[in-house]
Amino acid sequence: MLAKTPPMGWNSWNTFGGRIHEDLVRETADAFISEGLKDAGYEYVVIDDLWEAEGRVEGHLTWDTGKFPNGIPALADYVHSKGLKFGIYSCAGTHTCAGMPASYGYEEVDAQTFAEWGVDFLKYDFCYAPPGVDGPMLYQRMGQALRATGRDILFSMCEWGKHKPWEWGVRAGGQMWRTTGDINDSWDSILHIGFAQQVGLEAYAGPGHWNDPDMLVVGMYGKGNVAHGGCTDAEYRSHFTLWCLLASPLMVGCDVRAMNQATRDILLNREVIAVNQDPFGRQGYRVGQVDWGRQIAETWAKPLAGGSIAVGLFNLGERPGRRVAVAWESLGLHDRRPCRVRDLWKGEDLGIFTGDFSTRVDVHDVVLIKLTPQF
Ligand code: GLA
Repeated sequence: MLAKTPPMGWNSWNTFGGRIHEDLVRETADAFISEGLKDAGYEYVVIDDLWEAEGRVEGHLTWDTGKFPNGIPALADYVHSKGLKFGIYSCAGTHTCAGMPASYGYEEVDAQTFAEWGVDFLKYDFCYAPPGVDGPMLYQRMGQALRATGRDILFSMCEWGKHKPWEWGVRAGGQMWRTTGDINDSWDSILHIGFAQQVGLEAYAGPGHWNDPDMLVVGMYGKGNVAHGGCTDAEYRSHFTLWCLLASPLMVGCDVRAMNQATRDILLNREVIAVNQDPFGRQGYRVGQVDWGRQIAETWAKPLAGGSIAVGLFNLGERPGRRVAVAWESLGLHDRRPCRVRDLWKGEDLGIFTGDFSTRVDVHDVVLIKLTPQF
């Protein structure tokens, strides 16, 4: 099964936009190894829009030879030689969102081309779809075309939640689908796309099919293509924690050749990633929200294989050191059930608690705990 757990990788768009070229992709694949991303589970190296040449050649898509002088197949080979997988981008309309040739009416030809190039992942966008044409049908058409190639190509559907893809994405052949518009590198965007817009979608995700609230902005610090001022390390930590609880794909969007230690600490934390990759494959859900104006706290829970529960205690407000609590009752646990509590970011056992757990959380920060019921 493709995407048995949420796909993990890197995508060029957030930081580089159209400034992509083969050296960047090779260096990124190298950094997957040297920075420990591969060991932590990151696998897909994906180029987004603006890899394409302006026109088709004999009906086939081809690459911008200025950016990829040695060609995409050689680049895919290089990525494969590192034990990684290679991804590319196209669009369901006549043009990509950046105005390059796209796959409408060429679905079978393009799927075959991608398979021949050694592509393992296709992100499929939704700009320039001819008016009146059924969107889900266009995704289904590409999903079928990919399957017909006989190659395992993960299908990442990017129609921004427009036609509720969580309701038909599996039937269209998708392993993941965007649920919202584009993220940018700001706390507002994380609040909006992540905390507000993912509520209620948890029923639709599971092994082989995942809701996708867009790529990570962790470590961008206001640089790059979707920059909007950037975030603090606490905000990036909350963003990553929520995406892990949501069983979202973890597609890194920063320049992994130039990460600082704070970024590494976030993107490479094994215990936090394990929440995302948990084999039970449940998407987390919001269990609590306290909103007193500037003092907003939320708790999100994700049931894990073996009966433990991961709980994120978020301080979304402006009051420092706000106390955030979770009651066993809200998690479906008897309030007299003792639970072992572990702080996953710190990798520390906090002891046995009964009935509830509360802790102080800094502004826009999170404490992520794992509750293990004792018998
Ligand atoms: C859309 C997608 C983005 C990115 C750009 C590329 O906006 O949602 O993620 O792929 O197109 O043009």
